[in-house]
Amino acid sequence: MELLKQKIRNEGMVLSETVLKVDSFLNHQIDPNLMNEVGQEFAHLFKNDGITKVLTIESSGIAPGLMAAFHLNVPVIFARKRKSLTLMNDLLTASVHSFTKQETTEISVSKQYIGKGDRILIIDDFLANGQAAFGLIDIVLATQAEVTGIGIVIEKAFQSGGQQLRDSGYRVESLARIKSLKNKQVQFIEETGAAVK
Ligand code: G4P
Repeated sequence: MELLKQKIRNEGMVLSETVLKVDSFLNHQIDPNLMNEVGQEFAHLFKNDGITKVLTIESSGIAPGLMAAFHLNVPVIFARKRKSLTLMNDLLTASVHSFTKQETTEISVSKQYIGKGDRILIIDDFLANGQAAFGLIDIVLATQAEVTGIGIVIEKAFQSGGQQLRDSGYRVESLARIKSLKNKQVQFIEETGAAVK
């Protein structure tokens, strides 16, 4: 998605060889026009898959998840990372280990909102080691619903999550795939296979 890549080139800050900061449009301040286009793109990619619900994880998955759900005209559910006052009973839970943060979080979704016949599109902002995506998959697999696809805004293709998910048979669509963050440069994997800055 060219607009997203331009935004990453213009506003992304390479903090290290593994971390890209995109606080100006995705992780802190959010660009609603960009999120609208992100949602449209996901809706276009999965339009023939009979998606019934979008599933994402708080907090940064909510904006792209909501816009994808809006354009697919289905509800969006976000997995919670913190205990909620109102979300207590009949929970589906999974453990998500972050290698980046070196911590394990229990994520939860109410059983009320995912069930038999649901075709779930998982959406998240970043794909690194895939732990969040596998946690969301575990939650869906604990129900009689199906994971129909996974949509990622920014995939760090030099980390193993994308490969692991695809090797497990899931369809993963990433709107920007980063090949490398070396030398403070963002190098994308182009659809043609050629790398540009
Ligand atoms: P994984 O789920 O693919 O295994 O990723 P990992 O544990 O490494 O990521 C932990 C958190 O850091 C996630 O957000 C993830 O989106 C984010 N993250 C990973 N790599 C990058 C990166 O290069 N840049 C940015 N900006 N974020 C990255 P989170 O803790 O759940 O935060 P939030 O959703 O509440 O914002």
